[in-house]
Amino acid sequence: MSVPAESIFFDLWSSTYDRPGLQQATYRPIHNAVLGRLEGLEPKRILDLGCGTGHLAERLSMMFPKASVVGADLSDGMIERAAERLTDDDMSDFVRADAQHLPLRDHSFDVVTCTESFHWYADQEAAAAELARLIAPGGRVVIASIATVTGFADDAIQRATALAGRPVRAIPKRELRRLLEAAGFEVEHQGRIPRLGFVPWPMLTDATRR
Ligand SMILES: C[S@@+](CC[C@H](N)C(=O)[O-])C[C@H]1O[C@@H](n2cnc3c(N)ncnc32)[C@H](O)[C@@H]1O
Repeated sequence: MSVPAESIFFDLWSSTYDRPGLQQATYRPIHNAVLGRLEGLEPKRILDLGCGTGHLAERLSMMFPKASVVGADLSDGMIERAAERLTDDDMSDFVRADAQHLPLRDHSFDVVTCTESFHWYADQEAAAAELARLIAPGGRVVIASIATVTGFADDAIQRATALAGRPVRAIPKRELRRLLEAAGFEVEHQGRIPRLGFVPWPMLTDATRR
């Protein structure tokens, strides 16, 4: 597979991504919130979509030691670091793939997590359709991503970030709800995740596959 231009940005970012300060302040609170939504479940097959360097995949493996955990990410750099992190874990696997066309079988997961990644997808409708295809009926998806309050703010962010070369689609929570419901999910919960220093706080969306 050739290296898509859009993954170069993330390949470069992967070398500094594991800085403890960044992880602690930015991603840890999100991972905590996502794991909190999964308490009490007994999934056998988990996908962490847009897994980055594998911090959440590692915690999923610890929380659900009997489950197989697959991480998928567009970036080779991110995937390589994730695979190194879970090198001794034979229940984990990592695949380089685009969230909009995943080389994974229909209904092959009980739980999919997706943290700080969905807002990077150019075709979020296609990604929602992929989630619906991959998750077995009754399975769950928990997405945490940047969300604006209005469509107007989303458009403004998209235009500004496109000028910088990497458009972000920070759709409002009602729009994500609409996308997921159209794809075949029932949205159970949506709420902001508090964290220090960054505003607006990310939006957590927890949905069940119908
Ligand atoms: C900010 S990082 C978040 C990583 C990880 N989920 C975490 O919580 O630390 C965003 C990740 O999304 C991945 N990504 C962006 N667009 C993607 C796409 N179309 N398909 C799969 N992964 C993508 C990037 O490569 C990057 O690793």
